[in-house]
Amino acid sequence: MPDKQFVVIRPVRNVLGSLRVPGDKSISHRYAMLAALASGRSRFENFSPGADCNSSLECVRALGCHIERDEQDAVIVDGLGPELQAPSSPLDCGNSGSTMRMLSGILAGQPFTSELIGDESLSRRPMRRIIEPLSLMGAQIEAASGDCAPLRIMGGKLRAIEYRVPVASAQVKTSVLFAGLLAEGETTVEEPTRTRDHGELALRAFGAIVDRSRNRVTIQGGQALKPLEASIPGDISSAAFFLCAAAVFPDSNLVIDGVLLNPTRSALLDVLTAMGSRISVLRVEEQHGELVGTISLLFGKGKNVVIAGAQTALLIDELPVLAAVAPYTAGGLEVRDASELRVMESDRLSAVTRNLEAMGAQIQQTADGWRIPGGQRLHGAEIESFGDHRIAMAFAIAALRAQGETLIRNSECVAISYPSFFEDLERVAER
Ligand code: S3P
Repeated sequence: MPDKQFVVIRPVRNVLGSLRVPGDKSISHRYAMLAALASGRSRFENFSPGADCNSSLECVRALGCHIERDEQDAVIVDGLGPELQAPSSPLDCGNSGSTMRMLSGILAGQPFTSELIGDESLSRRPMRRIIEPLSLMGAQIEAASGDCAPLRIMGGKLRAIEYRVPVASAQVKTSVLFAGLLAEGETTVEEPTRTRDHGELALRAFGAIVDRSRNRVTIQGGQALKPLEASIPGDISSAAFFLCAAAVFPDSNLVIDGVLLNPTRSALLDVLTAMGSRISVLRVEEQHGELVGTISLLFGKGKNVVIAGAQTALLIDELPVLAAVAPYTAGGLEVRDASELRVMESDRLSAVTRNLEAMGAQIQQTADGWRIPGGQRLHGAEIESFGDHRIAMAFAIAALRAQGETLIRNSECVAISYPSFFEDLERVAER
């Protein structure tokens, strides 16, 4: 078992074996929230075990829905239909930006006032991006300090809007679509570049009609949702850590089963292929609109890769681990247009630079990305996770090929998305 405060990672000889990863975080959040608005009992197998999705479940419980786990550890949610119950205390979103931003869309359409709070990191993250469209729809929202949480949402009848999201954000798109479901009329959201489409697919899985054409999504308000029984695919952003590890060991052979392959989430496979990995995708099937399958990865040598523009938005959660292994690749990596990384659970742009430098890497940080040459050797170091789950996991992976041991501070934060990460890492690490 990892220590509560830090973990020490020793280098490995190879990454080998097969693995399943926990249920997808983005889908788990959306299913939990939409289950609340459906009339009747929903049941989800392989629901994300992370603290973030638990925050969503606890908020849904505080809004009056009965929630339990059955003998198979599936999550059961008894939905109340479009009108939820006023919570008796502030809704605690913990570390979860997804909970706060997407739930706000639902709360905007409720006939009561609710307050949303979060931890220190979440209370620093920008909320103007949801306050603006939800206010245009008729909700009254107050942010305690500037644009940040705590938020006070005085919900009520909403009017449909046509909204162009200024930053590429699936959370914002989904928040407006959830509000659009509860509004009168037809709401359209247009995004600057395509982002993950789980909001649209989940709404359809619960029986709503959602139209999409290019970057525009439209929903008619007032549609009733039906409960859903589903098994949630493995989280490809969690699988990303092991795939990136396997990508930098010459004898690696890794298979990940039952993993999400939604094209708006699987750009990582294209990047790893460009970096040289030989990837096969097997046994693909569709589950409630989401593609699921098996990924197999063998090492291969590639060239320099540049991630920019629309591709950056699709890879936003995978950039820290891609950067963390980039020094070991043959061609290195350049990332552009990633200033969003600065306003995530930590300033991920600086966190990656600081930690790669601590390991002796050459890295150039730009205003919105990094330039990281390939062919480097790194040494073990003390890594600061900044309490950010993806930084802790990214550097546990970088540590596998470093010389000497690496200590990851505040490693317990991996529980935000992947509580069994270190145990799973040991299963595929060959020493
Ligand atoms: C998420 C969207 C992304 C991502 C986050 C989860 C989602 O954020 O970083 O981890 O589930 O919609 P943005 O909405 O800022 O793109």
